[in-house]
Amino acid sequence: MTQAKIGIIGGSGLYKMDALKDVKEITLDTPFGSPSDALIVGTLEETPVAFLARHGRNHHLMPTELPFRANIHAMKQLGVEYLISASAVGSLQESMKPLDMVIPDQFIDRTKNRISTFFGEGIVAHISFGDPICPNLAKILADAVASLELPDVTLHRNGTYVCMEGPAFSTKAESNLYRSWGASIIGMTNLPEAKLAREAEIAYATLALVTDYDCWHPDHDQVTVEMVIANLQRNAINAQKVIQETVRRLALDPPPSAAHSALQYAILTPLD
Ligand code: ADE
Repeated sequence: MTQAKIGIIGGSGLYKMDALKDVKEITLDTPFGSPSDALIVGTLEETPVAFLARHGRNHHLMPTELPFRANIHAMKQLGVEYLISASAVGSLQESMKPLDMVIPDQFIDRTKNRISTFFGEGIVAHISFGDPICPNLAKILADAVASLELPDVTLHRNGTYVCMEGPAFSTKAESNLYRSWGASIIGMTNLPEAKLAREAEIAYATLALVTDYDCWHPDHDQVTVEMVIANLQRNAINAQKVIQETVRRLALDPPPSAAHSALQYAILTPLD
C-alpha cells in the first residue's frame, strides 16, 4: 500500500494540487463507505502526500452529505499522521477580510446532522478535545504563510471557527449571535473532520481562506456561492503555495503532536 505521512483536504475551489508529481489515483474502500473521491497520492517537495477533494473533484457533495468517517479512515489507511485542511470560510470580524488567511485554534459546533465519531456499537471512548487543532502543525502552517510574504494577504493566528450545518448560509440574527460570542470565522465542514482526525490520532490544522463577510456586515453584500468561488479561485494559488511550503517544513522537521496518542486514555470499554 502506498504510504503518505502528510494528508491534504481541499475544500470549495481547491480540487487539486498543481505541483503534485508522480501522481497516482487511489480508490479506497472503508468500513464507512467510499471517501468523497479517489485519493490523489503524489510527491510535493519530494515528500509523499495524499490529497482529497472534500466535496469531490466535481463538487457533488453537500457538507451534510460528506463521508467524513470514510475520508479520515482513508487518510489513516495511507499512513497519514499530519492533515492539513484548506477551507473556504466566511468572516465574522471586520479585521478578517476576504482573501485573508486564518489559522483557527477553536471551534463551536452548530452542526445537527453529522456523525462525528468512530466509536459506539459496543466501544465507548471520549477523546480530549479542549485544543482541537494541533498547535505544532498550526505553527508550521503559520510560519509557512509568513515566510511567503504573499501580497495583499493578512494572516490571522488563532480564532474560533463556527461550524454550521448548512447548506443555506446563516441568517443575520445567527451571524450576529456568533459575533456576540466572539467567534472569528464560519464554515460548514471542519469540526467533524477535526474530531475524527483526533480519534484517528492524526494531527489536524485548518488553513481557512476568507471568501466573504457572511451576512452581518452593513457595507458588504450578503454571501453568495458566486462570491465564495470567485474569491476562493483567487486564493487557491496562494493556498497551494502555503501547503507546498508547509509540506517542505513538515518533512524536514515533523513536530510531536499530542494527537498522535489521543486514544491512550480515551477508551472506557475493556478491550480484552
Ligand atoms: N463558506 C464560505 N463562506 C461561508 C459562510 N459565510 N458561511 C458558511 N460557510 C461558508
